[in-house]
Amino acid sequence: MSNNTKAERYTRIYTQIEQLIGATNNPYSRMATISALLHHKMKGYFWTGFYFLDGDDLVVGPYQGPVACLKLKKDTGVCWAGINTGKSVVVPNVHDFPGHIACSPLSQSEIVVPVRNHSGSVVAVLDVDSRELSQFDDVDRIHLEKIVQLVYRA
Ligand code: SME
Repeated sequence: MSNNTKAERYTRIYTQIEQLIGATNNPYSRMATISALLHHKMKGYFWTGFYFLDGDDLVVGPYQGPVACLKLKKDTGVCWAGINTGKSVVVPNVHDFPGHIACSPLSQSEIVVPVRNHSGSVVAVLDVDSRELSQFDDVDRIHLEKIVQLVYRA
């Protein structure tokens, strides 16, 4: 898929999510809808879902794909890096990322995007894994950063 096609697809998904999420402001219902749409409409998405902070823990939220780790060891791996820095993390090869947590041995590349609540605090991350190396780039990052803003939008 060319980057233009990919961007167009993300734009269509954004509009669709925007229309659907108006039904409720419950963030978990919105996360579930976002995971389902992205997972089934984007190519190369092998695992698509959210991890959210629960006290000191980072635990799995709504997702699509194979069964994943329920809780991620504190301050370890890609999801915690997204939580702790408040920045998106694009990992072309998960084997090169120190501390990467492999919920599935099939995942080869990954993107993590922080989710902020109404007050601007990072409360969760969107995590997408692919079975292909270097699946994600700036086009994915920019569009996913926009999509996750819909989780807590008033
Ligand atoms: N790889 C992630 C763990 C979650 S799974 O990929 C679904 C990490 O290193 O934080």
